Amino acid sequence: MFNSHRRLFLGASFSGLASYPLFGQEPSPKERNKEEEDEKKDPLPAKAVKEDAGFQPATLFLTWHKDPTTTMDVQWVGTQGETADIKVYYTSDPIPVPVKGAPKNPNEKKVNWVVCNTIIKPYPMSDFKVFRAEIAGLTPNTDYSFRIGKASPIYKFRTMPAKANDSIHFIEGGDCGINSAAIANNIMAAKQDPMFAIIGGDLGYDNGKSVDVSLSFLRNYSKHMVTKDGRMIPMITCIGNHEVLGSYEQKREKGTFFYPLFDGLYPETGYATLEFGDYLSLVLLDTGHTTPIAGEQTKWLEETLKARIDHPNTLVINHVPCYPSYRNPIGVPAKDGKSGKLGTGEGQRIHWVPLFEKYRVPLVLEHHDHTFKRTKPLLNGMPDSNGVLYLGDGSWGRIRNPRTPDCRALTAFVCDFNPQKSL
Ligand SMILES: [Fe+2]
Ligand SMILES: [Fe+2]
Repeated sequence: MFNSHRRLFLGASFSGLASYPLFGQEPSPKERNKEEEDEKKDPLPAKAVKEDAGFQPATLFLTWHKDPTTTMDVQWVGTQGETADIKVYYTSDPIPVPVKGAPKNPNEKKVNWVVCNTIIKPYPMSDFKVFRAEIAGLTPNTDYSFRIGKASPIYKFRTMPAKANDSIHFIEGGDCGINSAAIANNIMAAKQDPMFAIIGGDLGYDNGKSVDVSLSFLRNYSKHMVTKDGRMIPMITCIGNHEVLGSYEQKREKGTFFYPLFDGLYPETGYATLEFGDYLSLVLLDTGHTTPIAGEQTKWLEETLKARIDHPNTLVINHVPCYPSYRNPIGVPAKDGKSGKLGTGEGQRIHWVPLFEKYRVPLVLEHHDHTFKRTKPLLNGMPDSNGVLYLGDGSWGRIRNPRTPDCRALTAFVCDFNPQKSL
């Protein structure tokens, strides 16, 4: 049986996600057409640059490749020479707000800015570059201000707590796209005031070939994934088929924009772990897009889960679901000399599910099928109260009608997920 504190943790963690409106409706054909038109256009122009605000990269976002209790990666995509000073300056000191006409307070404490160098890497198929400042040595559970150079606006982030003494609340989803539903979901997600967001693949649907789509996704995220008090919400990702030119069984370089953006966390492989102090371990997998499911990745997964068997909270995130809520899980057997085809998630069910069960993973977060799903706890493909829970299935912006209940015996709950209906 799973430790009770694992369950308590999850109960607290998913309160934000569960508070989403669950019973949206499928968009009408007219609405669908509008969404498709929206996707062809760049839905959000770059942020309007205020005359006095200096450098404001519209793609600015936060992510992590090391412990989120003491680090933060500040990233943006832009061109070299846009601004003279690309170093990131950060501080935990309060920033005094100037009052127009008020005399300067001579006793006001000077803000102590710390400087972090920014690395520059190519952004493929364009003249753009990825700019990344890897800030380390931060104090846990602390609000920081930062700026790029001396003239950018001042942005805010918060480090994760050192210990999980209170609830850890975050948003999880996938299959976003750049349409109006994705933007609506960004807005709803930010309203939950999450500590961070996990996007489990199929981010913008750039398909490894559209610079414009990849940048539109970042611009949308940058603009809307900000809390009411102005704190930027860090993004953690894993790879999906729509990050990759060719979708499956491709070489790493076909994840054209994904790896240049996220190779801090994925420097060599398509899978990784992210450790939050001693209380949360995220295991992020590649469901066959640039790394085979079987072989090295499965061997690494077993070692990783085995090493964490006593860890209080080890969660797995993958893209293609082990237990799909929409696509067909049943494959086509080889026949008459023709090769067969695995059903959706069949490779994961063969190679990974036994490990999730053996090492008592409490929760697997799944995506790709574009519905909102909760399975029954499952052991060996059968409902069992001591089993593994699978939540999904990726409808941050992509939405479809789920299958009828008789087609999904293993799911406790499935619906579509359309935030536009409530906005
Ligand atoms: Fe998708
Ligand atoms: Fe997908």
